[in-house]
Amino acid sequence: MTNKNRVTFGSKLGVVFATVGSAVGLGNIWRFPYMVGENGGAAFLLVYIACILALGLPVMLTEFFIGRNTQRNAAGAFKSLAPNSTWSIIGYNGVLAAFLILGFYAVVSGWTLEYIIQAVTGSLSGKSTTEFADDFANFSSDIYRPIFWTIAFIALTHFIIVSGVKKGIERASKIMMPMLFLILVILCIRSVMLPNAGKGLIFLFKPDFSKISSSVILSAMGQAFFSLSIGMGCLITYSSYFSKTTNLQRTAVEVTILDTLVALLAGIMIFPAVFSFNIEPTEGARLVFITLPNVFGQMFLGEIWSSIFFLLLAVAALTSTISLHEVATAYLLEEHKMSRKKAATLVSVGALILGVISSLSIGVWKEHTILGLTFFDFLDYITAKIMLPFGGMLICIFIGRRIDKKILKAELTNQGTITFSLFNIYAFFMKYIAPVGIGLIFLHELGIINWLKSIF
Ligand code: TRP
Repeated sequence: MTNKNRVTFGSKLGVVFATVGSAVGLGNIWRFPYMVGENGGAAFLLVYIACILALGLPVMLTEFFIGRNTQRNAAGAFKSLAPNSTWSIIGYNGVLAAFLILGFYAVVSGWTLEYIIQAVTGSLSGKSTTEFADDFANFSSDIYRPIFWTIAFIALTHFIIVSGVKKGIERASKIMMPMLFLILVILCIRSVMLPNAGKGLIFLFKPDFSKISSSVILSAMGQAFFSLSIGMGCLITYSSYFSKTTNLQRTAVEVTILDTLVALLAGIMIFPAVFSFNIEPTEGARLVFITLPNVFGQMFLGEIWSSIFFLLLAVAALTSTISLHEVATAYLLEEHKMSRKKAATLVSVGALILGVISSLSIGVWKEHTILGLTFFDFLDYITAKIMLPFGGMLICIFIGRRIDKKILKAELTNQGTITFSLFNIYAFFMKYIAPVGIGLIFLHELGIINWLKSIF
């Protein structure tokens, strides 16, 4: 079902920037270093890159196929490809994941706003490593401040979503992305010049294979899905706005390379500093927020650098929350025939409630846990490590079983006008390697494989 009146992204550059804008965000700069730190460094990085290539790229291209072919939202796309079937469950899983991710992502986005203010007012300078860590602990466990910023961030996202797809998303990502890239490079250079920086680079790049375990593999897979914005229909929704002449293969490769590059830069920026300032790499979610102020403290005009950096980080987070919000909004708008404003309001209010609970779960509600995790960590766990890979697995199985290879190839080659020499390899990975690989990682994590081994 195609819809001629649907909004499409304006320029070719706009398409790539908006999709990169969705992919590049806190996942690269906040979550990636924190995962690397918790999962033993370079060994994790290696598994992560393997996941990006073997699972991430094929799933991304498949999402592009689904979105542009159907020109519908995450749930509607499956209804249109397989009417009256239960496959649209993939879309519902995605819409739910969008909500849940927004629920904790908005909190961390809010932290970036607090840090902009702190940087601008000069309270991010002249402190010791412990003081920075204490400041962050006090701030994040406070009741009001983080909630205030979470609400502010969701309101900002809401405003952009209601103002329309094209104008809002495109404008925001075009200017700020290249600036963020540049400042990351500058920070990397500063960081590797710190005393003891070499230890950090060794941690990041010299793998200790004994560190690879099933939980490291699950974390790496989850991080790959999270960082590329795949597995929940985000890129289905975005590619539904692509034009028929967009080169899907090239876009997938470009987005993946840029996203991975930004994560690597974030790693090079963080780990030398972590070792230089004697911070534990396993600090978890606060790692970036306690490490970076130390780096800025060592820079000439540190206040200015830190202000610009946190501003750009907030914008990168914003282009990602926009994409998450858009998945749920487009679903309500198209499948439940709501106005854009009403759909967006429902999503924002839902995200707000989850956001407030996750923010409180870091402080006063720390004791209330689900499966041993705080609400914040729980949302992160079920989305990144379960719902996204599960969605990706189903997407591949669905396409492998239900879609004629000719239709797939025609869409991915723009009706034969561009070549796709690796089509067979792509189809093989998408049909077999990705779903089987994801399935095995799940089974292994659940302990089922070890259990079977013990029986036979
Ligand atoms: N990829 C984004 C990041 O790295 C987060 C994000 C945006 C996302 N849209 C998504 C993650 C969809 C999973 C699914 O910050």
